[in-house]
Amino acid sequence: MTIELTIRPTCHHHRINRELLIRRSQWLMQQNGVQDHNLSLLLVDDQEMKALNLHWRNKHKPTNVLSFPSDEGAHPGFAQLGLKELGDIIISVDTAAREAAQHNETFHHRLIWLITHGLLHLLGMDHERSEGEAEAMHAREQQLLQQLKHAKDSTMTHLAINVDHVATIRQARGITEPDPVAAAAICELAGASGIVVHLREDRRHIQDRDVHVLRETIKTKLNLEMGAARDIIDIALRLKPDMATLVPEKRRELTTEGGLNVSGQKKKLGATIEEMNQAGIPVSLFIDPDSKQIKASHAIGATFVEIHTGRYCDATSEQERDMEFELIAQAAEEAYDLGLRVNAGHGLDYQTTARIAALDTIEELSIGHAIITRAVFTGLDQAVREMQKIIREASRIA
Ligand code: PXP
Repeated sequence: MTIELTIRPTCHHHRINRELLIRRSQWLMQQNGVQDHNLSLLLVDDQEMKALNLHWRNKHKPTNVLSFPSDEGAHPGFAQLGLKELGDIIISVDTAAREAAQHNETFHHRLIWLITHGLLHLLGMDHERSEGEAEAMHAREQQLLQQLKHAKDSTMTHLAINVDHVATIRQARGITEPDPVAAAAICELAGASGIVVHLREDRRHIQDRDVHVLRETIKTKLNLEMGAARDIIDIALRLKPDMATLVPEKRRELTTEGGLNVSGQKKKLGATIEEMNQAGIPVSLFIDPDSKQIKASHAIGATFVEIHTGRYCDATSEQERDMEFELIAQAAEEAYDLGLRVNAGHGLDYQTTARIAALDTIEELSIGHAIITRAVFTGLDQAVREMQKIIREASRIA
């Protein structure tokens, strides 16, 4: 099957995730038994759509989607040629964006709905022919979108919880309470898929004792966040966490400030990955949503990348946030397509997580500060469950 997706330059301000649209279209074609056919998808702006709508339907306004089956108006002999061409679906992304806002759904969710609608037209359904046909088409549309939701359920984004800041509170007094090990157990009981701790060189929060007890007690998965420094690597090799996330570490920073410059230190990081892999520890590289870093991570044999969501979370305007979000979506897509497993995290909270969790290229989110902060007021169990609910609901749509 070939899906030819053309996006007009006039649509580029919408930052369209083309890989997602292609994968969803492939899935829809499979569900309708036409996976061996070719499909053309054209994304245009309202102005072009208005001209097309006037030309083909004599209507003086843009519409959301137009479909042109390849055999429409063709000579009867056309069918005998056995061509596997479905035809063209043309979508106005301006209208799709407006409709998404009106229906309070994501832009890509709306685009996928429009592709579904257009595809059913290409397959011969038509809601304009009769009421009965309108009902049948609507029912099929709903069925497909429901199936898509279930298909996504099986790839639901996981939540790994970073309990560093439980240790931060303990270290403020230099005593033994609160214990991040107890916190990890509560997180697991509340449904977390993994626990993350950052053993910093300055030991400002998590201590050596913590990682060793956590290694013994964690039932899900221990992700050790660490700088690629010799003494920490040696600890990791002995500890054997379920995975390690390499981050840049600066003594004077309040928290990890940016992603790793993988492309600038391929040799050093490649050697660390090799060493860790030989000890059976898969490695994730914490990187900014940047194609150069993704390619370098892949080239040096990382199993995962964790995409830095900090700039998206810190955005001070909707426009900036949308822009940062699209960078993350595209980076996740690129990494996923290269065969990397993709996690994301940093700065995510109860408002910013849903959009990221809706990206089905992302396997796991690493969230700490927001959950521990909320736990001060609601208790840890509830804080984890509330975040789980956001992730569960978000990864079912889009
Ligand atoms: N991922 C990485 C690589 C981090 O360094 C951190 C912070 O420790 C997180 C995720 C979690 O960030 P936050 O505490 O802001 O949720």
